[in-house]
Amino acid sequence: MEFKTIIEPFKIHSVAPITMTSEEQRNQFIIDAGYNLFSLHSDDVLIDLLTDSGTGAMSRNQWAAIQRGDESYAGSPSWLTFKAAVQNLFPFEHIIPTHQGRAAEKILFTAIGGAGKIIPSNTHFDTTRANIEYSKAEAVDLVIAEGKDPASLHPFKGNMDLVALEDFIGKTGVENIPVVMMTITNNSGGGQPVSLENLRAVSAICKKYEIPFFLDACRFAENAWFIREREVGQSARQIIDIVREMASLADGMTMSAKKDPLGNIGGWLALNNDALASICRNLLILTEGFPTYGGLAGRDLEALAVGLTEVISHDYLKYRIGSTAYLGEALAKMGIPVVQPIGGHAVYIDAKALLPHIAPLQYPGQALAVELYRAGGIRGCEIGSVMFGRKPDGSEVPAAMELVRLAIPRRTYTQSHIDYVIEVCAEVLRRAPKLKGFRIQQEPPALRHFTSQFAPL
Ligand code: F0G
Repeated sequence: MEFKTIIEPFKIHSVAPITMTSEEQRNQFIIDAGYNLFSLHSDDVLIDLLTDSGTGAMSRNQWAAIQRGDESYAGSPSWLTFKAAVQNLFPFEHIIPTHQGRAAEKILFTAIGGAGKIIPSNTHFDTTRANIEYSKAEAVDLVIAEGKDPASLHPFKGNMDLVALEDFIGKTGVENIPVVMMTITNNSGGGQPVSLENLRAVSAICKKYEIPFFLDACRFAENAWFIREREVGQSARQIIDIVREMASLADGMTMSAKKDPLGNIGGWLALNNDALASICRNLLILTEGFPTYGGLAGRDLEALAVGLTEVISHDYLKYRIGSTAYLGEALAKMGIPVVQPIGGHAVYIDAKALLPHIAPLQYPGQALAVELYRAGGIRGCEIGSVMFGRKPDGSEVPAAMELVRLAIPRRTYTQSHIDYVIEVCAEVLRRAPKLKGFRIQQEPPALRHFTSQFAPL
């Protein structure tokens, strides 16, 4: 007998308090924060769905491993444990540990980016794009058309548009494309997976033109689960085999270990090319540290090595993807437009569809995120014109989509927390017709969503 309640495949080992707040208090907290949810004190948040990055709970085995951490500067056994755990899944020649994903990106694009270079991806995550642009190279997104349509039910909306990729290579010239990237799962496109078939095809195109192919593999296990569930001929495979096949198709990867590796901090850059690895290691030493610890303590390396074995568990991934779908399906059922199908790590509410009376450059996503906080203390994240609207040339252009992401930290909230989120969303749905937009009062030169100050219209 298969029961419908998704029980968390763990019991709670250590708890952190949630401070209860009233709507009246939250109204003041959000004013004090300049209506920017990143500026709130997290103690003033009831359910924190800002990100799934580094916010998950570690297992008792991870905490035990932390005690084994060896803090030798060079050649620590914790490094060897970490390296073996990474190579068990991603058998690249060179593993370069960093303190988080964007540090790996910074090193990679410092080495291979630069003026005149153009780097395609299905969709670059914002730090990836920012690091590419900071090197003076250009970042281009070539996701399939379905990936830009929130209502499309395509099973692999993270796929690369293969025709567009070949076309892009033809027009741009192989010599100007230092790497082709693929983000799995496609975070900025709704946490949508990429099929194995598409990865194989992109890999073949890259081989044909002799362009290196790198994965941005933060949510590799969730992507592998979707492949197992949705792709013809994959349902009998072990997750680890699918992960290894994904790795075998690429020449390297960047990783934020704050996601699927179940760490609170960490990342790596991995690759096969010896000469490039040598350049990257030298850059690593400038900013991150010696190549056997990167930006990490020995204890972090140990915790990540254990996390990498836990995240590929069938029971864990079934619960993980099932519990994200539980939230998304409940919202869809009550009439809240959400990106379909529900992604792996987050539910994305389509604020443009929910708040059609708020113009894109009056930031419907920001209006929705603020109201979720005021009504129920839920912190989500705008992924729309606040995040992407400001162009490098200074102009402001509405983003393709106006989304609010409710990202689910791993192994952190129970079903009753999520049931509460569903109730709060129902209340915000009732308030939706009355919500008003925002204007930006103050913004920094780049990545403005983190620190901009807003005023209600
Ligand atoms: N790539 C993807 C697909 C990501 O989602 C992130 C981070 C990074 C790279 C950068 O990794 O944070 O360790 O430096 N995403 C977080 C998020 C911040 O909330 O989605 P990092």
